[in-house]
Amino acid sequence: MRHSLENSNASSNPTIHELNPSRRELLQGGLGTALAALLGPLAGCAATPTATPSGGAPLLGFSSVPPSEADTVTVPPGYRAQVLTAWGEPVGIAGMAMPPWREDASASAAEQALQFGMHHDGMQFLPLQPDGRRGLLVTNHEYTDEGLLHPDGPEPWTAEKVAKSQAAHGLSVAEIELRGDGWRLVRPSRFARRITARTPCAVGGPAAGHSLLRTAADPQGRRVLGTFANCAMGRTPWGTVLSGEENFAFHFDAGPNPDAHQKRWGLPAQGFTRWAAHDERFDAVKHPNEANRFGWIVELDPADPTSPPVKRTALGRAAHEGAWVALTRDGRAVVYSGEDARFEYLYKFVSRDRVQPARDGRSAAQANRELLDHGTLYVARFDADGRGRWLPLVHGQGPLTAANGFADQGEVLVKTRQACDLLGATKLDRPEWLAIHPATGEVFCSLTNNTERGKAGKPGPDPANPRVNNAMGQVLRWREDGDFDGETFAWRHLLLAGDPANARAEARGNVQGDAFGCPDGLCFDPRGVLWIQTDMSAGVMRQGEFARLGNNQMLACDVGTGEVRRFLTGPVNCEITGATFAPDGRTLFVNIQHPGEPPGDISDPADINRFSRWPFGGRPRSATVVVRREDGGVIGS
Ligand code: FEO
Ligand code: CA
Ligand code: CA
Ligand code: CA
Repeated sequence: MRHSLENSNASSNPTIHELNPSRRELLQGGLGTALAALLGPLAGCAATPTATPSGGAPLLGFSSVPPSEADTVTVPPGYRAQVLTAWGEPVGIAGMAMPPWREDASASAAEQALQFGMHHDGMQFLPLQPDGRRGLLVTNHEYTDEGLLHPDGPEPWTAEKVAKSQAAHGLSVAEIELRGDGWRLVRPSRFARRITARTPCAVGGPAAGHSLLRTAADPQGRRVLGTFANCAMGRTPWGTVLSGEENFAFHFDAGPNPDAHQKRWGLPAQGFTRWAAHDERFDAVKHPNEANRFGWIVELDPADPTSPPVKRTALGRAAHEGAWVALTRDGRAVVYSGEDARFEYLYKFVSRDRVQPARDGRSAAQANRELLDHGTLYVARFDADGRGRWLPLVHGQGPLTAANGFADQGEVLVKTRQACDLLGATKLDRPEWLAIHPATGEVFCSLTNNTERGKAGKPGPDPANPRVNNAMGQVLRWREDGDFDGETFAWRHLLLAGDPANARAEARGNVQGDAFGCPDGLCFDPRGVLWIQTDMSAGVMRQGEFARLGNNQMLACDVGTGEVRRFLTGPVNCEITGATFAPDGRTLFVNIQHPGEPPGDISDPADINRFSRWPFGGRPRSATVVVRREDGGVIGS
């Protein structure tokens, strides 16, 4: 969608190394270097950013790569990029078959459910041993191109094609290790697992069991089949990952007469996939509550293959891009999350309770099993004076009352957008990823673009979204007042993206260094370099205002000086996304999503190689790439 079987082999619950922090590490901020590198800002916001944190060496030490239109991955001199795994490779679930990739896409739905899904997006590496040379790689599979997925394309849709499409969504958990010749999958692995659009998921938090979540198939409203449209991914200090259910709405058929709630959430009359034709729960006329069971942040404990994914309703329902965690000085979790849709919102959740350490044979993940079910959700308002405020989404406060259509906190959380509309929160230019500076606690958020800004009947520019017809996007930065739970903050722009040679002022940007458009993925590496990944759509790439920017790319930013330097360029019509670093900073994992994507879905199987043959000369395949330095050094230094 353009913006667009689980196994249970583990008999014990191992811990993910360095993600199982002791009380001292978590609650007093006395962090080991490795832990700090992994978990980022655990100790509140205080310090000032430094451009040269170690020995005066510049933060960015590599040679910039030029914009590229080649059908390949390019990295700077002295670096090497290699494909680790791709759509359709078996994940290696212990005790199950390992159906190999088939170039004609003839894998069955059951086989696809044992293989990596399609269109990799957010990803996290979680080390399993102290040296970080073995770990779990957890990957989201955001959407499917049905023309690539089936030998004969999507038409005519069948029950088997719907099942395969659903099996190509969700998450993959794979075990990987660094051997002498590079990173390799460990197959079979007792950790390896697929989560699909049919995997049973639990529901936690105030909306669990709510009447708006109950369906004929699940009268208790506590057991949802599947997660899908999983976009970005964050990890928690207690060893779990958080996956955002983003463009869930487009799989539902709301029919010709959607109600106000369905309209506000953009459910189409007919879904962009035809799941509803063969899986009745996606018929939103017959089953209007089914859509309320998606759009959540899903928490998964990858170290326990028997644990169900849990939808954390206290974090609100949205077209969630993903979720990223910080800790207050007293050890409460603060979860930031954006909603990637035009004129939607930016959220922050503050947990009621403190993060608990692993104890008495329970892993940290198990000790914090309900941490994200209790707390306060806020939405951001960016004011004109560089100040901002977090507005609480609490039933009974302000306009969030029964008289305004919110019976209880569960309804506030299911109808988060409607609640934010009433609160007067800032309607943003598609907030995508967030990243939290590991030393300073400053928070960054990419707003990818919004070409509707300023159009007739749409909101005009505002301080945080200053450009009409915003084709290029911007990155916001802010510091919370006091600690991460502060209800006010000071904000500014890190940059406005865009080619400085553009004639239209609103598309020029102010990037210092290498220009780019449409920031999307963000992450900090262990040294505090902000990595920015781009998602220019296939419909605009290499044309008009994007003519000089080449294919999508990944850049490094020194947030102290503002300098941006291009590090990697991707194959034709891909998106670059999902960056995650090994804790030593010497391996970067990156996802190449939808190489060869045409403007519009690939629906004609004859079109599959019109733009790309990446990675292996045949059918284009989303894939995970490993980037290392030839001398084994720290990436980017
Ligand atoms: Fe799935 Fe907003 O990117
Ligand atoms: Ca994407
Ligand atoms: Ca994205
Ligand atoms: Ca995007």
